[in-house]
Amino acid sequence: MANDIFGNPELTRQKTAAESGPYVLPPEDQAWLDEVYEKLTVKMKAEAERVGTMIPYTTRDGKYHDLDVQGGLGFWTNGFWPGMLWQMYSATGDEVYRSAAEGVEERLKELLVTYDSLDHDIGFLFLPSSVANYRKTGNPESRRTGLHAANILAGRFNPAGNYIRAWNNGLWAGHEVSGWMIIDCMMNIPILYWAAKELGDPRYEHIAVAHAKTAQKYIVRPDGSCNHILIFDSKTGEFLDNPGGQGYGSGSSWTRGQSWAVYGFTLSYIHTGEESFLNTAKLCAQYCISNLAVNDWLPLVDYRAPEEPVKYDSTAGMITAAGLLTLADQVGEYEKGLYTKAAIRILRACDAKFCNWDPAQDSIVDGGTFFYHDPTGTNTEVPIIYGDYYFIEAIMKLKGKELFIW
Ligand code: GLY
Repeated sequence: MANDIFGNPELTRQKTAAESGPYVLPPEDQAWLDEVYEKLTVKMKAEAERVGTMIPYTTRDGKYHDLDVQGGLGFWTNGFWPGMLWQMYSATGDEVYRSAAEGVEERLKELLVTYDSLDHDIGFLFLPSSVANYRKTGNPESRRTGLHAANILAGRFNPAGNYIRAWNNGLWAGHEVSGWMIIDCMMNIPILYWAAKELGDPRYEHIAVAHAKTAQKYIVRPDGSCNHILIFDSKTGEFLDNPGGQGYGSGSSWTRGQSWAVYGFTLSYIHTGEESFLNTAKLCAQYCISNLAVNDWLPLVDYRAPEEPVKYDSTAGMITAAGLLTLADQVGEYEKGLYTKAAIRILRACDAKFCNWDPAQDSIVDGGTFFYHDPTGTNTEVPIIYGDYYFIEAIMKLKGKELFIW
């Protein structure tokens, strides 16, 4: 075989994602991972026995309370506890997890009847509950529930503007508007990819892809930072505004939104094979990695906010880590290390600063912040259920025990 002018034979090309195995962890990281997995199994078993079919959000006095959240049963976070239970069931086979997860799913199904509280976050509710159940057990009732949820999400698509409507109401410039689109929805559209495959009906995928392309065009900025919210004229599809949302302000870079972009564009690539989604995921990932690297791998609430006050959102770190590990599986052998090592650094930094491994207390990851401007402080640096979910998902990925949820 001929060498090129620098002496590189063709054989030095890197293996593609399909050809190469996972990145091999250095012994010190492997030892940390094994220890965390052991602590996780002890803590989660005690927690599942205590919490059962309650639907937790945060803790008070170290304990979860049922539906202790303003949004009630329809709140977007209510699928994460069953998601944690399915991950643990999948890894351990312990029936305590499965029976609790099935009990929560029964409760969530009520939402499809009452309907009014549902919005685009129906994916967050039913992918980690019903669709996870179907993927793990083949339960036909869970499949029907997942498909019902996918149809409700598809019904929120607006062809004038090509996006899925996020929220049901909200004021912009002093009047009620309906053309809301937000970055978070990149994690809801996988229920459409799933339905398209399950039914052999590409309509669902067309909607998901159209939405993802609109997000690519208007939400992701050329430097890899993201807007949180877009507002469209829902009659004409004209783009109107991109306010700051849950981050510091307009033009800032809300860290959790950045993590939804990393993970969400990776998922759109996995489900469609469209290369531009992979490149957008990499752009957003590299933006996150450089911001985290200069801050000891600890996620602030917004990457583009004043240095003081320092406010953390550990949940954004957990989502970013899970997203980076998913991305690492999609790239060639010499790129895997970048995303895997960054994910491990985030997980280890957050473990050292935020994790509570006491099995007598509920919740693992402290330091979650729901939004930047929180006048009461009640949603600032507290345990939040999705921080624990994505932490567990990331650990299961690294252990090769993950149940694919998205
Ligand atoms: N709606 C998802 C989030 O607050 O991150």
